[in-house]
Amino acid sequence: MRAMTRATPQTAPFGSILTDDMAIAWYRNGRWGRAEVRAVGPIEIHPAAHALHYGSECFEGFKAYRWADGSVHVFRMDRHIERLRQSARSLVLPEPDAAEVAAMVAAVVDRGRAAVPAAPGALYLRPLLFGTMANIGAASTPTDEACLIVLASPVWDYFAGGAKPLRIYVEEQATRSASRFGIVKTGGNYAAALGPTVAARRAHDVDQVLFCPGGDVQETGAANFLLIRPRHILTRSLDATFLHGVTRDSLLRMAADWGWRIEERIFSVDEMLAWVRDGEAALSGTAAVLSGVGTLIREGGEEIRVGNGVVGPETEKLRSALVAIQQGTSPDRYGWLQRV
Ligand SMILES: Cc1ncc(COP(=O)(O)O)c(C=O)c1O
Repeated sequence: MRAMTRATPQTAPFGSILTDDMAIAWYRNGRWGRAEVRAVGPIEIHPAAHALHYGSECFEGFKAYRWADGSVHVFRMDRHIERLRQSARSLVLPEPDAAEVAAMVAAVVDRGRAAVPAAPGALYLRPLLFGTMANIGAASTPTDEACLIVLASPVWDYFAGGAKPLRIYVEEQATRSASRFGIVKTGGNYAAALGPTVAARRAHDVDQVLFCPGGDVQETGAANFLLIRPRHILTRSLDATFLHGVTRDSLLRMAADWGWRIEERIFSVDEMLAWVRDGEAALSGTAAVLSGVGTLIREGGEEIRVGNGVVGPETEKLRSALVAIQQGTSPDRYGWLQRV
């Protein structure tokens, strides 16, 4: 990690700098202890810790925004904390109390308040939860000890003002994760996606991989996938195969209120290719917000242009409406922001 003095959110890669303090709490003897706020730094865990061997780990990612008046607001924190608790349940990890996690987030934001960038930057918040029971024989036994940490990273919106259309590789065989585990935000899913992502980057110079096992269009390694036309969005219906993005949910809610047609269903690679002849495609997520796709690349290297290859006007309309709510320049009619 770089020191704040040497790197700025504008120049550093996403997530590579942290604020000075973190919050940490331990689960032992059947209960969560009091959270402590301390300087970011190494922690001691046993080399036999459950998470290191059996992958009992999950995390979240969401942002706090500094408004023009200097106040700081977290976007849909409750929803992200609920998803963390759902991930914990799926991994049979001790579930932290939602109010406790929220208090830890608020404490970390408060300590790092001076480091919250103004728009188009934000403070990216990263709670993580992992099993610390020391037992290398516990492959099929849940951990009875755990650690919860909240980190914060000042980040910049690299897509603000002149977004570069993305190049996306269409992976038609590999799954991103075990099919019932796509919904869980656990490190193992990202590890599983890494091999295909690195290979596609090397072969085709792409930004991301869109996982479409057996032709079923699901999501990319770190964002959901939307097909967009004037007053119409098509995206995959929710099930356990992919992560239920809070950004996706927010965009669909806004567009539905504008009277757009929202189609949530399973669709194929062939249907996607027909759509992008004259429609738009975009990735949605906390980091990406809504980023337009310019080119799809298929196995063998065939390149398919999305629309006319630039970020489309409907994508831009949706993106700027969401950003305006997050940055407090448009009213928060959904109650999505929480001042901290
Ligand atoms: C695999 C994956 N899908 C989708 C998303 C989008 O989720 P959200 O909009 O809640 O950030 C993310 C995270 O950002 C992700 O890692």
